[in-house]
Amino acid sequence: MEYQRSILITGGAGFIGSHVVRLFVQKYPHYHIINLDKLTYAGNLANLKDVEQAQNYTFVKGDICDFDLVFALMQQHKIDGVIHLAAESHVDRSIKDPFTFARTNVMGTLSLLQAAKLYWESLPERYEGKLFYHISTDEVYGALAMNKELFREDTPYNPHSPYSASKASSDHFVRAYHDTYGVPTIVTNCSNNYGPYQFPEKLIPLFINNIRHRKPLPVYGKGENVRDWLYVEDHARAIDTIFHKGKVADTYNIGGFNEWKNIDIVKLLIKVVDRQLGNKEGASLDLITYVTDRAGHDLRYAIDSTKLQQELGWEPSLQFEEGIEKTVRWYLDNQEWLDNITSGDYQHFYEEMYKNR
Ligand code: NAD
Ligand code: TYD
Repeated sequence: MEYQRSILITGGAGFIGSHVVRLFVQKYPHYHIINLDKLTYAGNLANLKDVEQAQNYTFVKGDICDFDLVFALMQQHKIDGVIHLAAESHVDRSIKDPFTFARTNVMGTLSLLQAAKLYWESLPERYEGKLFYHISTDEVYGALAMNKELFREDTPYNPHSPYSASKASSDHFVRAYHDTYGVPTIVTNCSNNYGPYQFPEKLIPLFINNIRHRKPLPVYGKGENVRDWLYVEDHARAIDTIFHKGKVADTYNIGGFNEWKNIDIVKLLIKVVDRQLGNKEGASLDLITYVTDRAGHDLRYAIDSTKLQQELGWEPSLQFEEGIEKTVRWYLDNQEWLDNITSGDYQHFYEEMYKNR
């Protein structure tokens, strides 16, 4: 079959990537979606069970740092769009192992950019109708004081963790490839995501799972840090909108104007999980355990997504409480998914990470 477009999605077996792959495969049967993923501890093909048989979907196991592989894929599938999500994504891991973050997030992005540039420049139409869309994070902007205005697209970069430093570096490379070589690029910076299929090392799935199993809930510091939360399917819809309607060389911030202190989220999770499990109200409050703060822990992230809302008409669809109800329901109903990933590397990681806290 002749497809209208051929899109390379990287990191499609991860949390956000799997939602993006699902959306594109189902919504655009006339597009060929090629998912390139290394299947690190965070990648899981079970996240894509419902689309793996689709005609217009191809999975390739491989590393974005492998330039020869990426270039060959671009040629073989005549790729005209890249949606780049593959990354090392957990701040705590970046503190323990910054080199892996520089390799994947910086060198991997560079390898993809160079492959796209060389392939597209070899075509008669060159960059016409092409797009390299890079998915980034609000963490590149650094920490916001409580009384400071939200991150906008022109807020200067000020990353603090090895994770955010690596993402900031990759964002700069993407913009440099546009400015230097003319590669059509877009960068988006999104706030914290939550929802089904998130690896349970991140706050929300980790705590849902721990409440269920009556394990301690390790709250860093005093739990006063603030994050701005967006339901993952709303992020995937934003990516769809921006991929199709965004302006080349532009940046869009994505967020739901939804700031929460960590400790308030923990209490909300306890309330919802206890209710859904049929426990007495407040039964799990005793699991809250204040532990040593994360090194360099950013106080607050908060995104101003006015530009995206006004220029492209995207808006979040879910209220946080509603999204948390759905998310808790999903994790409680999908214990098998959790068991499969919490039995291997994750258990080792968990023990290492928390043994001295
Ligand atoms: P994730 O850790 O759940 O998934 C990452 C995926 O990338 C995994 O499937 C993994 O196997 C794959 N991967 C890692 N290294 C690879 C490599 N070298 N080659 C090929 N594949 C590789 O991450 P996520 O939370 O879904 O985040 C996806 C993207 O969105 C990242 O770029 C992240 O920086 C960004 N982001 C995440 C959030 C969030 O709250 N999770 C918020 C804003 C932006
Ligand atoms: P996380 O989900 O790791 O996302 P990020 O660090 O990218 O924002 O953490 C969200 C917030 O929750 C962050 O302020 C750190 C805090 N946190 C805890 O207090 N305890 C935990 O066990 C984890 C994983 C996070």
